[in-house]
Amino acid sequence: PRPLIALGIETSCDDTCAAVVTSDRRILSEVLRTQHHLHEPMGGIVPKLAHHAHMRNLPAVVQEAIQKADLGERGIQAIDLIAVTRGPGLAHSLGVGLNAAKTLAAALNKPLIGVHHMEAHALTARLTSQDPHLLTDQSSDNKVAAAAEPSSAPSHWTRADHNKRLAGSDPYPAFPFLTLLVSGGHTMLLIAHSVDRYTTLATTVDDSIGDAFDKSARELQIPWLAGRAGGPGASLEEFAKGSKNPERYLDQLPIPMSLRNNKREMKFSFAGLKAAVTRIVKQETQEAELAGAARGLHPNEIEFMDIERRRDLAAGFQHCAVTHLGQKVAQGLEHCREQGLDISSLVISGGVGRNATVRSTMEQVCAAPMRQEKKSSHQQKQKQKQQQQQPTLPKKVIQVICPPPKLCTDNAVMIAWTGIERFQLGLVDPYDIDIVPKWPL
Ligand code: KG4
Ligand code: ZN
Repeated sequence: PRPLIALGIETSCDDTCAAVVTSDRRILSEVLRTQHHLHEPMGGIVPKLAHHAHMRNLPAVVQEAIQKADLGERGIQAIDLIAVTRGPGLAHSLGVGLNAAKTLAAALNKPLIGVHHMEAHALTARLTSQDPHLLTDQSSDNKVAAAAEPSSAPSHWTRADHNKRLAGSDPYPAFPFLTLLVSGGHTMLLIAHSVDRYTTLATTVDDSIGDAFDKSARELQIPWLAGRAGGPGASLEEFAKGSKNPERYLDQLPIPMSLRNNKREMKFSFAGLKAAVTRIVKQETQEAELAGAARGLHPNEIEFMDIERRRDLAAGFQHCAVTHLGQKVAQGLEHCREQGLDISSLVISGGVGRNATVRSTMEQVCAAPMRQEKKSSHQQKQKQKQQQQQPTLPKKVIQVICPPPKLCTDNAVMIAWTGIERFQLGLVDPYDIDIVPKWPL
């Protein structure tokens, strides 16, 4: 049978997106109109501005997605289903996308599929596999060696690359798999049991990790890298690379909910870490002011905190935030093992998933041998002996899957793909569905 073709629409936040994707994993088109320039001067997303920009932009975005998909003489009639984000997100923004999708679906007499935005982030990995540079021979220990190498997020990924690689043997995660959703809006660790069944292992008790990156970047007055995708978080990552002494502030920065403090709760927390960054910046600024005044400098001439120290603090913050993620993922994996769940992979998704330190840390966590019980040296010797006698079985390595950075941030490709996955299970929605701005998984 011919593959299904889905149109996806995503307007949950501040990007207006449409895409056409097929059930045999081809991305026929993807169009994204960002509103970044509208919100950035306001210091955050303004819902009313987002709403109006979606209303202005969505028709042309959908038109472009259909045209670029090159659907042949049937044009839009070749579309088999229309998928749209119902939530969670900004109510008015969601409404624009949902209404457009419902109207299109009804007018064309096509099935409509309402999609959970976070579910779509999680399922992205079943459409696209890993970055090409992360692909390694999984049948050998090379995987472990390769995993220890820090990976940088390539920015050159294109739709053409994706379509070209389809013929290859890229692995797609089988259920159940773990998903770490780390973005500006969410910080979650989930078990994906099936297309429509998830268990939340951990969410944040205060701020999202993206917010912590963004606020820390602002606090440190990190220059915005114009034209660079990823926002302040990506700028912070870049800035921290220049740190010569990344350990300078480590003793003043907490690792949240850390095992060290015996806090084994399955929760994320970033407010304390963020506050520590603010406190250090304030303290350093005061010291710089005092030192400047002592040298007779005018307050305007005093740099608020010298750049070397700012880089060190950025690196320290990133280290603590990412270590925190890593510890919770390790606990999550342990929990799954205790439950007898055979987890195939860890999928990292969301904007912060672009961060190379996040990726390399998760690769280490997933490659680490199972936690060893403490054994007496006698037992250890016995075990070694047994191991020498038995053929060594390959250790189960949990594969780390990072969808290409572009598909880790908000996009309509993931919505169209989720629509296909749901449609194939018969999960279709009526034309009168409503938005769900707050929608637990
Ligand atoms: O998924 P996303 O594009 O939007 C939603 O929040 O839904 O995530 C955006 C967040 C922002 O907070 C941004 O600063 C952060 O992801 N981010 C990063 C990096 N790239 C984007 N944080 C850390 N390192 C990065 N390289
Ligand atoms: Zn998102």
